[in-house]
Amino acid sequence: MPDDLATYAFLRTNDEISAERLPVTGRVPEWLEGTLLRNGPGQMTVGEQRFRHWFDGFAMLHKFAIQGGQVSYAGKFLETKARASALAEGRITYTDFATDPCRSLFARAMAMFTHQVTDNAKVSIGHFADRFLAMTETAIQVEFDPETLKSVGVFQYEDAPVGQMTTAHPHFADGFMYNVVTRFGRASQVRAYRIDHEMRRERLGAFGAAKPAYMHSFGMTPNYLVVTEFPLVVNPLALMFWLKPFIENFAWEPRRGTPFTVLDRHTGEVVARVDADPFFAFHHVNAFERGDELVLDIVAYPDADIVTHYYLQRLTGTDLRLPHGRLTRYTVPLKGGRRARVRAEVLSDTCIELPHIDYAHHNMDPEQRYVYGIGLRPERDHEFYNQLVKIDTAGRTTVTWHEPDCFPGEPIFVPAPDRSGEDHGVLLSVVLDAPAARSFLLVLDARDLRELARAVLPQPVMIGFHGTFVPPAPAS
Ligand SMILES: [Fe+2]
Repeated sequence: MPDDLATYAFLRTNDEISAERLPVTGRVPEWLEGTLLRNGPGQMTVGEQRFRHWFDGFAMLHKFAIQGGQVSYAGKFLETKARASALAEGRITYTDFATDPCRSLFARAMAMFTHQVTDNAKVSIGHFADRFLAMTETAIQVEFDPETLKSVGVFQYEDAPVGQMTTAHPHFADGFMYNVVTRFGRASQVRAYRIDHEMRRERLGAFGAAKPAYMHSFGMTPNYLVVTEFPLVVNPLALMFWLKPFIENFAWEPRRGTPFTVLDRHTGEVVARVDADPFFAFHHVNAFERGDELVLDIVAYPDADIVTHYYLQRLTGTDLRLPHGRLTRYTVPLKGGRRARVRAEVLSDTCIELPHIDYAHHNMDPEQRYVYGIGLRPERDHEFYNQLVKIDTAGRTTVTWHEPDCFPGEPIFVPAPDRSGEDHGVLLSVVLDAPAARSFLLVLDARDLRELARAVLPQPVMIGFHGTFVPPAPAS
């Protein structure tokens, strides 16, 4: 990886700045008004220490306010105990995904089972019940004010978030937020939760997991929750004694296959458990019901090597060669009995990650068609993700956007107010222009990925993960 890309994508600590009226080229559609909020790492070093993995790093929130064709920006680190403690002590003090602070063996042991669970919520942003939640895989979500980006509280699935892992991709439907929490212990469990608008927690159901799987997301249909247990699994005792960073306790055991466990979304009852051949994924994309079958679109990998490719040493080294995620459709028969198997069909050979759909209008919709994401240009697939992709799952075609030495983040779809089809709207992506040492907010027509406008930031922004677009509140 070129030095400038490595520096700006993963190493240089971002500045907390705000800027009004960013320079805009092109024309931001007049109808586009609202706020893009994004989350991701903004700081990888503390004193002499450096985090080890893309999924470590202190959370930074980025806010792009769009109005009247103009764009303003503000970037602020998420206020957390983990970062405050690190800044006070001049070293990393909380364990994260693949980084452990230097501590005595005694202090490392049981770390996950003490109150030293990190609140460094750097993965995604949930907008639910007029609250904004920064989320990660520890079961602490940090609520922040979307105006000031200041932290205002935390949300936990259980009274104490110890010994737990959740997903940074809850689902939203019917006024509820759904998520799954893995509770590690001598008898580990995967627990499904439903949260109402008062943030009251209800445990819908649970099932046992002798060796819990690493799960970054799950599936939901109108009537079911689907937990996909990839065979990247952990002996919970290893976590309890915590001799290695969190993710390094997990091992790839492909002989387990990948069971899909289906829970009734309303009662929590486990209604089916159907095996698939082994595969790995971070992201479920969409899921829907079709007769007695569930259909789940997932960005799949043949194994979990992608996790090790995201170590900073590897990302910033000379041999990147990221494994390609492929949009794959898994069909789960609900009434096939013990002999039933999940069927898999690759929908597109185009490399894709950080998949995004028009969730608000088409999640759980069998007619949902377009998947947006980042990917690798085939002729330059030794680089980091260097293009935006749009996969048409019905037409089986792909459209891309790319520019040399530019590295886009997750594209977020915003529908046009007079929309005439699923893809009538724009895509918003924060793109790192490595040679220019800055990033820009890119606005594309979602139908053909034609550039409409870009607003240039005064600084480069580290490659982040997920965000959300917030339309203006309706006039009262
Ligand atoms: Fe994610």
